[in-house]
Amino acid sequence: MANGPAVGIHDLSFATTEFVLAHTALAEHNGTEIGKYHVGIGQRSMSVPAADEDIVTLGAAAAAPLVARHGSDGIRTVIFATESSIDQAKSAGVYVHSLIGLPSAVRVVELKQACYGATAALQFAIGLVRRDPAQRVLVIASDVSKYDLDSPGEATQGAAAVALLVAADPQLVRIEEPSGVFTADVMDFWRPNYREAALVDGQESITAYLQAVEGSWKDYTEQGGRSLGEFAAFCYHQPFTKMAYKAHRHLLNYNGHDTDAAEVTRAIGHTTAYNNVIGNSYTASVYLALASLLDHADDLTGQAIGFLSYGSGSVAEFFAGTVVAGYRAHLRTQAHREAIDRRTSLDIARYRDLHERSFPTDGGDHPTQAQTTGPFRLAALRDHKRIYETR
Ligand code: HMG
Repeated sequence: MANGPAVGIHDLSFATTEFVLAHTALAEHNGTEIGKYHVGIGQRSMSVPAADEDIVTLGAAAAAPLVARHGSDGIRTVIFATESSIDQAKSAGVYVHSLIGLPSAVRVVELKQACYGATAALQFAIGLVRRDPAQRVLVIASDVSKYDLDSPGEATQGAAAVALLVAADPQLVRIEEPSGVFTADVMDFWRPNYREAALVDGQESITAYLQAVEGSWKDYTEQGGRSLGEFAAFCYHQPFTKMAYKAHRHLLNYNGHDTDAAEVTRAIGHTTAYNNVIGNSYTASVYLALASLLDHADDLTGQAIGFLSYGSGSVAEFFAGTVVAGYRAHLRTQAHREAIDRRTSLDIARYRDLHERSFPTDGGDHPTQAQTTGPFRLAALRDHKRIYETR
């Protein structure tokens, strides 16, 4: 363990979209037996952004409550992780920095490696806080997951943002060393710059994920990490909730353990409640799993949690955290439930319209239809610039 104070997640907040599509509506539209969605992939519904929502409005909505509670003192770095970037040059975090009123003495940067990006952000943030424990780092993971209409990936879309305040002597979870890391050059899922929707080889992506679980766990143990039996729960990246079950069974098998269904559910069941109704939130997903665990499980004080972060392409990291005494007083369970319950249900026609919309590229003045009731909105695209407003 490194010397100095413990560092980790001091506060955590998430935001999701204005709209939601029930998998029953998708199943009815494309003639799929609903059991495939509800049981086979383990999803009930997915968040769908309004025309005036994007990764910036979601990221700002997730981060604003952290600044409201803790102020901005000590925040000298904002790291915005995303794989649904809106600009090739400017960080989405710079817009968020302005929308949530952070001071100018802050560095802001955007990070990318598919769904793994937020974990890189968290680890980099821990390094910065170790260097100067008076500093705090705001990590924002925000994504809109989009596949082509009528493709197999369509049922595994979603959208959300998670904001983490990383600090010394954290109130929620202390992040431990070591980490187990793994990289393999695979084409399981990718999105060329000219496409809005991702391309994916579905079965290949599941295999690549499981290989990355194995590889990062192997490195974790070689680095002197905890043994499997020490963990009270495991937060996996969840492109769909059944993937967490596949991953955990794979890890148990790899270690020569039984894959007793009740035991697997005990280890990961509470982590899937939010993902089940929000869908894949890419970079945010593994931290949405943490929010779900902390909000739903009985007291976890002093317990070790395993994290498996996977990003296609592929990079993975396995690491551990310990839940801090008194954490329950700092949770945002009510606000998280409201973020999910406030969404308006879409019918399939409106969902497909929203899915197919794209911004004009002529540089004109294009106001955006006012749809979101969230605190921030994308008001227009003007002279090729995104114009945001606060409600
Ligand atoms: P698919 O081919 O439509 O589905 O694609 P399937 O035929 O494989 O069926 C899915 C499951 O439903 C199967 O269970 C079926 O047996 C079951 P499994 O064999 O896997 O246990 N099933 C039923 N169960 C109950 N009742 C029924 C029924 N019918 C079938 N009636 C797939 C599914 C996930 C591949 C597709 O949706 C897809 O391509 N999604 C996108 C890719 C993805 O999510 N990959 C996951 C790993 S990669 C990752 O996590 C990274 C990612 O987040 C991106 C990033 O890192 O940036 C994606």
